[in-house]
Formats: sequence, structure tokens, C-alpha cells
Amino acid sequence: MEAHDEVSKGEYKIGSGQDCMGFVIEDEDVVSMSMTAVTFLLEKYAIDPKQIGRLDVGTETIIDKSKSIKTFLMRIFEEHGNTDIEGVDSHNSSYGGTAALFNCVNWVESSSWDGRYGLVVCTDSAVYAKGPARATGGAAAIAMLVGPDAPIAIESKIRASHMSHVYDIYKPILDSEDPMVDDEISQTCYLTALDSCYKGLCNKYEKLEDGQFSVDDAAYFVFHSPYNKLVQKSFGRLLYNDFLRNASYIDESAKQILTPFESSTAEESYQSCDLDEASQQVAKPFYDEKVEPTTLIPKQVGNMYTASLYAAFASLLHNKHDTLAGQRVIMFSYGGGSTATMFSLNLNEGQHPFNLSNIASVMNVAEKLEKRYEYTTEEFDIFVGLYEARREFGIKNDYWCEMPGNLLPIGAYYHIEENIEEEEEKE
Ligand code: ACO
Repeated sequence: MEAHDEVSKGEYKIGSGQDCMGFVIEDEDVVSMSMTAVTFLLEKYAIDPKQIGRLDVGTETIIDKSKSIKTFLMRIFEEHGNTDIEGVDSHNSSYGGTAALFNCVNWVESSSWDGRYGLVVCTDSAVYAKGPARATGGAAAIAMLVGPDAPIAIESKIRASHMSHVYDIYKPILDSEDPMVDDEISQTCYLTALDSCYKGLCNKYEKLEDGQFSVDDAAYFVFHSPYNKLVQKSFGRLLYNDFLRNASYIDESAKQILTPFESSTAEESYQSCDLDEASQQVAKPFYDEKVEPTTLIPKQVGNMYTASLYAAFASLLHNKHDTLAGQRVIMFSYGGGSTATMFSLNLNEGQHPFNLSNIASVMNVAEKLEKRYEYTTEEFDIFVGLYEARREFGIKNDYWCEMPGNLLPIGAYYHIEENIEEEEEKE
């Protein structure tokens, strides 16, 4: 892509830290990917579709301004006689998936809970207009089952949010999925929200527990990952916060490196390349241990918007499932606008089939990445043209699985389009 876009060598791969990007081909969209993820999840854990009582979807890929993606997914459940399923879609940039997850978890914890499972789907197809951001796009659907006694438990009391009104990344042109991005503001907004959430989470932890919270108190940190470089910067930022709070694990050599930035104002600190470099240098050994295992899928697939944070978590399960029981994992969810929450997970081994090793084996991350098809940048541009044409005409899709001869895995869904204008003309 660097050669095709005539940018300097290394600008995408080193500059943004990304290895590859993923995108949907002409037979796929956010609904087909979600139908595949939900169907595979139900089949692989032998869950009767009647056992689902709530389904929440997080997305920012709008394929219909009224009809939710959740309603498309109902076909899977209607076929089994289950229409009694609460929940619709949550929208706000990349944060919708976390809003959907919290809605679902709250239902299971509430007096409305009827004893059945909740399901959460995070799905997006992230396509940027031509320019530096295009190489950071991606596409995915992730399905998560929510219920009591889970191997991955949310520590509800240890979480903090930062919500504010900013125009960092937004989609004001209603017939286009291309986001408008203010490069500099968008990075600063992300880091401001990160600082604010981290301070809030530390304060809440310290009110509940005896002692200070620092990076030392969690085994892993998982970030919303628009591009890997921002994840590296973000983790460095947490170390800088810990330095300012005198965390005990910050040793003398780290202090020497960070002391010149001790009295920087917040604004200066966001603008300073020297501080960015210094904090990443101090963070490097901790990053390798606590963040690197979470980066596989986001670096291979690109920004998946709502699915991005959960794909990073899936990378951690894939890489470390054998040693995760008993560990705390901190998650940072960010969406433009802006909306952010940092929350804590506690992991335990769990009971079959919901034990961590089986979850990793069912996800089968390595094979899924391996079996992808490779396209040229020119071919990618053609697919982007197709997505644009669809929006212009208006599409009513029908979804099927197992089309003979297509590129998708057995059992994966694909769509057949019905052009609404052509249909109306025929009538
Ligand atoms: N070799 C190595 N590194 C390079 C090269 C090269 N040839 N060229 C550039 N770089 C480095 C730069 O030095 C810079 O490094 P730094 O960040 O450590 O200073 C980095 O690549 C980025 O280069 P820039 O010129 O600063 O940025 P650019 O204008 O290319 O845009 C960006 C990059 C911001 C990632 C763009 O892709 C973008 O706008 N993305 C979408 C917005 C986004 O994802 N925002 C994140 C938060 S918002 C959200 O998640 C909802």
C-alpha cells in the first residue's frame, strides 16, 4: 500500500505499527459477519438458541438508519421459535461495543433477568477515505456470551469513564461511511480520556482496597487499537502517570528519564514528542510483558472500531490462556465524540466448555488469520467502490450460508443484494 499510495517507505508499517489490514469482500457485510459469529458461537458451545434472552449489538457501521443489526440477527432465533429477546444496537463510534456489553451484563445482574444467557455482538467494517488513515482500516464481528459464574468476570466497582463533547472523529455526511478525522485532536482526545479514566480508576480502587493502584497491579492492559503506534503511546502514558503519582515500581533510572517532564502542563505533555519517546522507552519492558500479547489481531486486521478492543482481548486469550487464571486485566475502551471507559476483568479457569483453554481453541485465531485471502491494493480500491455504490442505491439484503464456490469458510453467511431502486422500477 505504501508503494501504491506513493508515501515514504515505512510510513504505514512502522509509522502506524500495523502489519496488515482486513476488509470485507463483495458477499459480506457487518450483518453476514455477525450472523456467522453468532451461529458459530451457538454451535461450538452447543447452546440452544432458545437459551438466549438478550442480544445487544455495538456498531458504528450503519447499513440502515432505522432497522437495527440486532433485528437481522433475529432470523437465527426465530427459526427456533424464540422471539423473546430484549436489546437493540448501541451506537457511538468505537465505544458502542462496550455500551452493548455493559447493557447485557447489567441485564444479567438485574431483577429483569430471566435466567437465560445474554449475547453481545461487536461488528464494524472500518473504511477510511484515501489518505494516511486508509491503511489502518479493518473489519470484524465478535460475539460474546454473557452469564453468571463466567471465567471472565467484570469487576464492576473498579471502572471509570470520561465522556465529553469534541469533534475528533465523526461522520457528519449521512450517506457516507468515511469518517472525518482531525488527526492531531483525535490522538490528544484519546490520550486525555485515557489519563482521565486511569486517574478515576486508581481513585476508585484506592477507596476500596488498601494501597495505591499502579500498572504493577494488573497482569495485562488491553487498549482500543485504531493503530498499534497509539497503543504503544498509550501504555507509555500510563507509566508517565505512575511516575507523577510516585508509584513504587518506577525505579531510579526511569525517574531520571522522566524528571525533565515532571512539571509539564497537561497540554504541553500531549504535544511533547520528547516525553512520548521518553515514556515509551521507560515502558518498553513492561509493554513487552503486559501489552504485546494483546496486539496480534489488531496488528493483523486493523481498526475494527467496536470490535477492536475485544479482538485485542481475544489475542490475549489466544496467546496466554494457560496462565490467565487468577489474573487481573485492565481494558480501555474509546470512541470518538468522545466516550471512554477503563474497566477491570478478573479471570478464572472456568468450567468446560467455558474454560479459558477451550475458549482459545474454539476461537482458533491462528487458523482464521492464516486462511485469509490476499488482495492487491487495486482490488481493495474496487471493493471500496462497491461499498460506496451500495449506499447510493439503497440495498435490501438477504442472508444465506454455504454458497457453493464462494471464498468464505463452510457455514459462514453471505448476502444477496436487492437493489431497492431497481425493484421499485420493476413494480
Ligand atoms: N518510517 C517510519 N515512521 C514514519 C514514516 C516512515 N517512512 N513516516 C511517518 N512516520 C511516523 C511519524 O514519525 C509519526 O510517528 P510518531 O507518531 O511517533 O510521531 C507516525 O508515523 C505518524 O505519522 P504522522 O505524519 O504524524 O501522521 P499521519 O498524518 O500519517 O496520520 C494517523 C496517521 C493519525 C494514524 C492517521 O492514520 C489517522 O488519522 N487515523 C485515523 C484516526 C484515528 O485512528 N485516531 C485514533 C483515535 S480515535 C478512535 O480510535 C475512535
